[in-house]
Amino acid sequence: MQNFISVHDVADIEALLRSALAYKADPLKDRSLGAYKRVGMLFLNPSMRTRLSTQIAAQNLGAEAIVFNVDKEGWALEFEEEAIMSGNTVEHVKDAAPIMGRYFDILCIRTFPSLKNKADDYSELYIRQFIKYSGIPVVSLESATLHPLQSLTDLITITESLESPADSGPASSPAARRPRIVLTWAPHVKALPQCVANSFSQWITAWARAGKPLDFVIAHPEDYELDEQFTNGATITHDQDAALKDADFVYVKNWSTYKDYGKIYCNDPEWMLTSEKLKNTRSAKVMHCLPVRRNVELSDEVLDSGASIVTREAGNRVWAAQAVLAGLLKR
Ligand code: CP
Repeated sequence: MQNFISVHDVADIEALLRSALAYKADPLKDRSLGAYKRVGMLFLNPSMRTRLSTQIAAQNLGAEAIVFNVDKEGWALEFEEEAIMSGNTVEHVKDAAPIMGRYFDILCIRTFPSLKNKADDYSELYIRQFIKYSGIPVVSLESATLHPLQSLTDLITITESLESPADSGPASSPAARRPRIVLTWAPHVKALPQCVANSFSQWITAWARAGKPLDFVIAHPEDYELDEQFTNGATITHDQDAALKDADFVYVKNWSTYKDYGKIYCNDPEWMLTSEKLKNTRSAKVMHCLPVRRNVELSDEVLDSGASIVTREAGNRVWAAQAVLAGLLKR
């Protein structure tokens, strides 16, 4: 692994999952791997889980993580090649990134999309500039189109749930048949990126192509189609109830429109996931990347029930980050 910005950077998904689960079983087993190594963590946008879990992961490996909130504390960065910098930007990424490369051994970056310029967002302009100019491995802490540490976490959480007898009885367990995994759109008050939905789709379909038995369904209202490069291999429907029937895992997420970029079209509250909607599932486990808008995306009743595994999912962020950082440190 040279960088970690999408599933395409991973040679063997199953091996990475096993590495993460091994760190969960024994967090300090590689506590000297990162000795005298520094992990730079640049945030151009807010975060709780990603920031804290990645810092803990680095610490578990004996590495030092240094957080730099570029959006609040840094110079405004310019990303356009040949820009005439007579506006608000103060420093070009081609000047800043090589310095990061001198200070750090691994560079982790969170950089959300504009949701205004689709071409720039979908070319991953910002993170690719850091890869080009830093000269060190780059880890996405959520980029314009993808959130790979979240998706790796989601696969870890599904794997754990499938393999845990506490979650699923042996006879009827989803592990004994093909689990049905459903990604369902939910309403929201703001136009949000497509990153989590793109990334979850990309990782689940890649997992299936690598031999993992599963059925993957995406349910969303009309006009919320995601970019097909991420959803190839999924069944796509506008009928949420049909999608949820016999589901084993329900992943809830809002996203704004992709085609007419960054808009909110339908925001039908009927798409909020409720306990009533879960009745036709196979006692599905409910997932969400968090933060979640309660009683807009998901009802209190679902989030506070045994069906919700969102807290375990967020806890697993540490092991995903640790497996990725370890993979890069072992290169
Ligand atoms: N799920 C996630 O990335 O959470 P944060 O935005 O709090 O990091």
